[in-house]
Amino acid sequence: MNRRAERHHMRPWETPELTGWRRLPAHAVPRKGISLDGLWRFQLLPTPDADLAARWAQIVVPSCWTMQDFEDIHGVADLPQYTNYDMPWPALPPMPPSANPTGVYEREVEVPAEWAGRRMLLHVGAAESVLIASVNGVEVGIGKDSHLASEFDVTSAVRPGAANTVRLTVVKWSDATFVEDQDQWWHAGITRSVFLYSTGTLYIADLRVTASRDGQLSVDVEARSADGLLPEGWRVSAALDGRPLHPDEAYATLAAEREQVSRWHGNARLHASVHNVQPWSAETPALHELAVRLHHPDGSVADEASLRVGFRDVDIAGTDLLINGERVYIRGVNRHDFHPVTGRVVSVEDMRADLVTMKRFGFNAVRTSHYPNHPALLDLADELGLYVVDEADIECHAYGEIAHDPVYLSAFLDRVSRMVRRDFNHPSVIIWSLGNESDYGANHDAAAGWLRRYDPARPVQYEAAIKYDFEPGRAVSDIVCPMYASISEIVGYARSGRQTRPLILCEYSHAMGNSNGSLADYWTAFESTPGLQGGFVWEFWDHGLLQRLADGRPGGPAGAIDGAASGVAPPGHRWAYGGDFGDVPNDGNFCADGVVFPDRTAKPVMCEHRELAAPIRLERGDDSTVRVRNRQHFRDLSWLAAEWQVVTDAAGQPRTAPADLPPVPPGTAAMVEVPAELLATVSGQGEVWLTLRVTTRHDEAWAPAGTTVCLPQVRLRPERRDLVTRAVTRAGTVSDGAWPVEIDGDGLIAHPLLTRSPTLSMWRAPTDNDRIAGLATRWLALGLHSLSRKLIEVARQRGRITIRAEYLAAGQLTIAHQQVLTPLGNGLLIEETAVLPAELADVPRIGSVWETTAGLDEIEWFGQGPWETYPDRCTGAPVGTYRAKVAQLFTPYLRPQESGGRHGVRRFALTGNGMGMVVHLDEPRQVSVSRYRAADLAVATHHDELVPRASCVVHIDAAHRGLGTASCGPDTLPRYRIGPGAYRWSWVLSFT
Ligand code: GAL
Ligand code: MG
Repeated sequence: MNRRAERHHMRPWETPELTGWRRLPAHAVPRKGISLDGLWRFQLLPTPDADLAARWAQIVVPSCWTMQDFEDIHGVADLPQYTNYDMPWPALPPMPPSANPTGVYEREVEVPAEWAGRRMLLHVGAAESVLIASVNGVEVGIGKDSHLASEFDVTSAVRPGAANTVRLTVVKWSDATFVEDQDQWWHAGITRSVFLYSTGTLYIADLRVTASRDGQLSVDVEARSADGLLPEGWRVSAALDGRPLHPDEAYATLAAEREQVSRWHGNARLHASVHNVQPWSAETPALHELAVRLHHPDGSVADEASLRVGFRDVDIAGTDLLINGERVYIRGVNRHDFHPVTGRVVSVEDMRADLVTMKRFGFNAVRTSHYPNHPALLDLADELGLYVVDEADIECHAYGEIAHDPVYLSAFLDRVSRMVRRDFNHPSVIIWSLGNESDYGANHDAAAGWLRRYDPARPVQYEAAIKYDFEPGRAVSDIVCPMYASISEIVGYARSGRQTRPLILCEYSHAMGNSNGSLADYWTAFESTPGLQGGFVWEFWDHGLLQRLADGRPGGPAGAIDGAASGVAPPGHRWAYGGDFGDVPNDGNFCADGVVFPDRTAKPVMCEHRELAAPIRLERGDDSTVRVRNRQHFRDLSWLAAEWQVVTDAAGQPRTAPADLPPVPPGTAAMVEVPAELLATVSGQGEVWLTLRVTTRHDEAWAPAGTTVCLPQVRLRPERRDLVTRAVTRAGTVSDGAWPVEIDGDGLIAHPLLTRSPTLSMWRAPTDNDRIAGLATRWLALGLHSLSRKLIEVARQRGRITIRAEYLAAGQLTIAHQQVLTPLGNGLLIEETAVLPAELADVPRIGSVWETTAGLDEIEWFGQGPWETYPDRCTGAPVGTYRAKVAQLFTPYLRPQESGGRHGVRRFALTGNGMGMVVHLDEPRQVSVSRYRAADLAVATHHDELVPRASCVVHIDAAHRGLGTASCGPDTLPRYRIGPGAYRWSWVLSFT
């Protein structure tokens, strides 16, 4: 048995000054070798000092042991834990707790005999949080930083031509944990690939490429020799797209070649001017293959590497961030390495799917919150076209003092410099970030100092430096990159005359649950205010982990999620959040705050974002023309196909005609005739809307031909009509005495299709925003969820019935409500009034709620859609006639809440089982038709707890409070709130 305590007398997990031992500098040379992924022997020890047991289990590398029900040798499983900024245990930096799960991994690897005499390296993609590596019993090195690779020179320990034993010890908690306090699940394990590779004695130690949009290419090649001394006469050569860079080639000229050689430290710089280069941008991600060779003095190849290069410029001019000279809007999203089954382990396919999803919904930028993401992500961002803010793995949110603490100085430098050295060559990386939520201290200045010398070309940002004041922090932030600043705050600053740097929000529009209110208002501000250039939505993922329900433990080793992605966990499972694994302390569902569900199903806000980011916008011209605006920065419209759709409130498919997009250069607009035949089809009265359905014309790397890109719309017939008058006319004349409904003794409306009469509703199942902002508690205290109704009178006069009632909230607050009913041929007109007293200053909704008999499973509506919309999240949703199953309207937010609403509804029909009813509204209103009452949603903590009702629960809202983003950030803007006063709404209910 091993006495581990003796072997690690340095106790590296308690030593912040020690960031690594015998770990090679990070570099940007792509390497491959013998993969060590797959099954390893494994033991989970309760502490790093515990003795190894005789019996080994097995584990797959890469994986999180926290996602696999592994029990340590004391029979205790180490499951995921979620905290936002609290440390998961009480301890002061730098000491981790003594209970410290430690994984010991072992396996054999056959090393080819031909590797004898070569330099051999062990690459461990990522291990959290301290990695101790040994080969054949010889300790080869130590690494820290859970999100960057560690490489060790194992030449002297390896026996070529034989089986070698590699042992990797991973200590979960350490001094480093205090600087990895990001808001996400705590996991542990070897989370990225492991491999062994070899080089010759003379090798490429690093490669640094800069390539600008005018074709200037410079390649710095660092040559080293394992012998120490470089041989006299070594040299490098390079080829671009398979063509050698030569002084006399037509496509490129080699302007300079310089070799700077000390006896042991070789640095060659190649400089070429490439003619007619196509610049790289997120819209046009043109890449070129660069191959670099290092030659022995005799000309033979000692080492080679190839990588993809993009020619582009990043500049800051005043308050503008420029890509290739253009002030591009940053339509960004924050991304964690996340997977609902594997925890933190992500495959290239997973990451491609993430970025494809982002592209399809109009995002053009990613912030790698809050650490360097898997390196393949940057290859994919280069290829698919996304700008990246590359963030260092530093967050000491619980203990900001660490930013000032010299014992952590090396950790800051190490984490920033290793990321920059790894990712330097990616054209997608346009900004470096020094980390997240770590106060602002001298340790940051040190890291920024190194960075500015190493990469003078890229801007640097760091949010905490401008957190309390947008003015200072210039040493570490070239960008004012606040999080969750309100619209008025950023617009006020941009107009103050004080702004001297670009303002791009590093986080905004917190996507927790049913959220992202006012995303469109942010974009109006960005697009109309010089100095504001966009931001990064928080965040991409809902971090719900797939959990079996039977015993409350997580799902087994990595497998697929069965069934099509729907946002809902497969049967027998749920999406777990903080606390669901018995984890204490925890921050509940605060980790479920993404624009996609844990299975990557897009939430409705994604469609809103897609429209806000639309490459094309329509503006009204005269009667038969519209202006088509190309809102892109670099592309014309030739990659897009389009179709006109004319939308009226008539049921049935919209009328369509093919659209020819004019050649509109980026940033300009052109007038286009709408086909006369199409307009001729909509003579008559009513609303008429023109939609341009824009799709990809050819296959794009991120979307097959025919994928929807955007649905811009203009209103052609602007006149407002009284929809109710029209419905009344349509419904037929009043037939005296022939009431289609009964009014019972309580003044409630009775009809075979109604199981609950329309009554007043002033409550919604609290959204995460409502709950966290404290509104939900206030509404409960006011009793809005359980108003008691008192009938005042039922009066019949001139063929109408007036029902007057009072609804009582807490503290005898009275809301007067009146319904005036007028019978129509097959239904009735309901005119309602409610008066909110001054004490009810901010309520979630005011309107009618009622329920139908079972069997009405289909809905058709004319209004905004087809996706879920709310008053402050509806800008992009085109008006149309949409059909769905009632069940499909619901959005399965992880923690049930108000969900499934549709905004701007003018008419809807519920049908099924040969029955039907139609509702016409006096003006476009917020409507929801659901299988759940608000109370059903409010008591459930996870989606699987919901039991759908057979009836439809229908809400027609005279007013509905906007969603806002108050779970983290500004609450609903005042103009989307519901204040005291009189509200009137009317509707026609007809039975078919
Ligand atoms: C920010 C933080 C993120 C996340 C978010 C709330 O303050 O940077 O990591 O915690 O708030 O979801
Ligand atoms: Mg944090």
